[in-house]
Amino acid sequence: MSHYFTNDYVKSEEKTVKVIIKNIHLKFIVDNGVFSKKGLDFGTRTLLENIQDIKGDVLDFGCGYGPIGIFIKKTSSSNVDMIDINDRAISLAKKNAKLNKVDVNIFKSNIYENIDKKYDYIITNPPIRVGKKILYEILFKAKEYLKENGKLLFVINKNGGAKSVLKDLEKEYEVDVITKNKGFYIICAKKH
Ligand SMILES: C[S@@+](CC[C@H](N)C(=O)[O-])C[C@H]1O[C@@H](n2cnc3c(N)ncnc32)[C@H](O)[C@@H]1O
Repeated sequence: MSHYFTNDYVKSEEKTVKVIIKNIHLKFIVDNGVFSKKGLDFGTRTLLENIQDIKGDVLDFGCGYGPIGIFIKKTSSSNVDMIDINDRAISLAKKNAKLNKVDVNIFKSNIYENIDKKYDYIITNPPIRVGKKILYEILFKAKEYLKENGKLLFVINKNGGAKSVLKDLEKEYEVDVITKNKGFYIICAKKH
């Protein structure tokens, strides 16, 4: 079986979707084999509608077709890097950056292996189906790639283990729940 996070391609069927986030109009090319191929995921929307004052160096971890990094670049003066393990996601994110006329830096990375800098923000709708070990590597290793007082901002559903993730993160970060909406928790984990 092919998952959106593998490079085991299913047939391409690109289509363009129009998305409005906080009055910003964006267009995205989406495709089979990439997360949320029908358009903006509700968790991603909830994340983007509830974070603010983003600036500085930003990493969109697991960018998929690119909604997080592209929206952040459109609405702030941040320097945005976007990474994913999935080749098709990288290719779509590059097309979508052009389509929405934003200058972002998009490259392939398995977890943080190709990252050699530190960020003010790491923002993610993390992959859940990869299992707890990889999810925790993404969330806990983020600390090494955050500047002093840098923040990890992410969305997680209560079915994805939000409560236990929160409890575990509190051992390493100063954690705030920014909001909860229909089972989705928007979490800010600050490095201290
Ligand atoms: C839940 S999706 C979010 C996609 C996009 N940010 C969005 O909101 O629509 C998680 C993304 O993480 C990527 N991913 C999974 N495992 C990864 C890994 N080991 N390293 C980097 N990215 C990974 C997947 O390919 C997928 O695009």
